[in-house]
Amino acid sequence: MFQAVLAQRMRRVRPSPTAEISDKVRALTAAGQSVINLGEGELDFPTPAHIAQAGIDAINAGETKYTAVPGSARLKQSIIDKFSRENGLIYNAGEVIAGAGAKQLIFNALMATLNAGDEVIVPAPYWVSYPDMVSLAEGETRIVQCHESDGWKLQPQALEAAITPRTRWVLLNSPNNPTGAVYSEDEIKALTDVLLRHEHVLVLADDIYEHTRYGRAFFTPAQVEPLLRPRTLTVNGLSKAFSMTGWRIGYAGGPKWLIDALQVLQSQSTSNPSSISQAAAIAALDGGTAFIEDWIGRLAERRDQVLDSIGRIAGLECAMPEGAFYLFVNCQGMYGKQRPDGKLIADDFDFASYLLDAAKVGTVHGSAFGAPGYLRIAYAVDDQVLGDACQRLEQACAQLK
Ligand SMILES: Cc1ncc(COP(=O)(O)O)c(C=O)c1O
Repeated sequence: MFQAVLAQRMRRVRPSPTAEISDKVRALTAAGQSVINLGEGELDFPTPAHIAQAGIDAINAGETKYTAVPGSARLKQSIIDKFSRENGLIYNAGEVIAGAGAKQLIFNALMATLNAGDEVIVPAPYWVSYPDMVSLAEGETRIVQCHESDGWKLQPQALEAAITPRTRWVLLNSPNNPTGAVYSEDEIKALTDVLLRHEHVLVLADDIYEHTRYGRAFFTPAQVEPLLRPRTLTVNGLSKAFSMTGWRIGYAGGPKWLIDALQVLQSQSTSNPSSISQAAAIAALDGGTAFIEDWIGRLAERRDQVLDSIGRIAGLECAMPEGAFYLFVNCQGMYGKQRPDGKLIADDFDFASYLLDAAKVGTVHGSAFGAPGYLRIAYAVDDQVLGDACQRLEQACAQLK
């Protein structure tokens, strides 16, 4: 009889906890329950019409064939222009690549550079996928814990202490998922000063939330410290800035040797990102970001609505985030409380489970991001739905003893 046997590498990876929560929410919804998902990292706004139209036009014009693996020359030019215009980073066509999301580019960068046992510094709280990607590439994640008292930002001394001769990469993510922390120019400079002293370390700047900020300026490491540019991969994408998560377009700029390697991996796995999405991406990158101001205003209102609710719930605390569209809520005050069914809440996972069971609201426990004791609430959902979710959260928490 056939026996299912998976490769050993599958032991090194778990399904993404955020995708798991979304699957759970979908299953409950399919079973007829009214569940609100505040666990998903995406904006509810439709992709702007001029961008969607560019995709439709591409289909109608027959742009439905293979393109160059790293993206069409036209898209590469839009990426080059974006980096130059918005980040002061000058790349040539051999130094940029487009892929199926920032996720693919980060994954491929690790696959292309890590040997067994190489270390990758990941500040916690981190995006859930980083450690698993490092494991799949046979690397070792070296987590550096950041603290709420430091605004959740990696401190230069902590970075310095984590670097060893085996360190291959440090992953920096600002604005941060899940905390919303946005590093200032000085805060990035303090980190790049440390990195300048360690010439064997590569820098991966995950700038995917660049455009979602509340009054903070944006800086990326290669811009703040041009001397690091030859060993920095600056990763960005359209998912969050343009509400295009489903279109799957990310892009990166970096040294040619690394971009070449990403291209080789892509050529033997997924080839070019969707030609239709590439056409939409050109319209997005060339079309300006004026509409984002309106989005930020609406997101700020939603953020405040949830913060107000949290303020009314004894046992929860949350600082004002600087960017992204998440609240990272301290839920340690809920530990030891009893649910109406008699079960005790012992940790952040128990609390998130209670919210799903009792309030039918999906959130993600902080442990999934390397920060036990917290809960991530993604508030980029429809205003009315969010209002309903807040009411449900308040009611469910009021039932805890
Ligand atoms: C920090 C971070 N990086 C990268 C990604 C992946 O984005 P993409 O949709 O471009 O693959 C996400 C998505 O949630 C993210 O939160």
